[in-house]
Amino acid sequence: MDQYVVFGNPIGHSKSPLIHRLFAEQTGQDLEYATLLAPLDEFSDCARGFFKQGSGGNVTVPFKEEAFRLCDSLTPRARRAGAVNTLSKLADGTLQGDNTDGAGLVRDLTVNAGVELAGKRILILGAGGAVRGVLEPILAHKPQSLVIANRTVEKAEQLAREFDELGPVVASGFAWLQEPVDVIINATSASLAGELPPIADSLVEAGRTVCYDMMYGKEPTPFCQWATKLGAAKVLDGLGMLAEQAAEAFFIWRGVRPDTAPVLAELRRQLARG
Ligand code: ATR
Repeated sequence: MDQYVVFGNPIGHSKSPLIHRLFAEQTGQDLEYATLLAPLDEFSDCARGFFKQGSGGNVTVPFKEEAFRLCDSLTPRARRAGAVNTLSKLADGTLQGDNTDGAGLVRDLTVNAGVELAGKRILILGAGGAVRGVLEPILAHKPQSLVIANRTVEKAEQLAREFDELGPVVASGFAWLQEPVDVIINATSASLAGELPPIADSLVEAGRTVCYDMMYGKEPTPFCQWATKLGAAKVLDGLGMLAEQAAEAFFIWRGVRPDTAPVLAELRRQLARG
């Protein structure tokens, strides 16, 4: 049977095995999908060992950049992202790297939540790996403007320079922003610490602004709570992005696109149970 894994450290709480097992059941695909805890300094050896037999893998924290360096070939979007979350063993035995995170976010926003990005003013908070991975697919939707705001402004400036040939992208500090925007995407890791990036309430126009946190949890994240309090038109967390990036990986490996709705509903049930 074809074997797949998700590499990470830690990896015990990964939802990927459940997601891919549900996808496989739903589409009648015969495959095994497990977690693989790679030692922090041995990701490459671990991946090479697995791919003697294995067909494909997902990569999560902290190995996405290392996976990028390990691959024999990269898709254009993985090259742009500078990180790989999906590995596939090709027919000639070489390893190809892709990145489905950005496609997952954009699909969750546009298809699942029905949010139009074309012509909109979009603000993205953060300038780390998570942001780098989603800039190209967002810009492909032709927003009116895309502002990258970060605590360390130089990192936002660097990203804006790298991507400005793809669309109207500029950098900012948090405190400089006051005017309402159409969509705010929180891609900082502030939620992990129970914090909220220091942004003005006036950025949210009640009933109009859509707020999306790439993080998720049993309870609404601080960013989602803030958005709800201000009357945002939609408040979304990153569970849908998780399901969609997995569906995109499944499609790359198996050539069939699973329906994410029932899988997302199951993830939501399990999250609520804790
Ligand atoms: P990831 O791969 O998840 O993007 P990362 O590369 O470590 O992780 O980036 C984390 C991002 O969250 C950065 O943009 C970071 O801001 P700095 O570049 O200034 O460090 C941001 N971040 C983390 N904690 C934050 C907080 N409490 N408030 C605001 N931004 C925060």
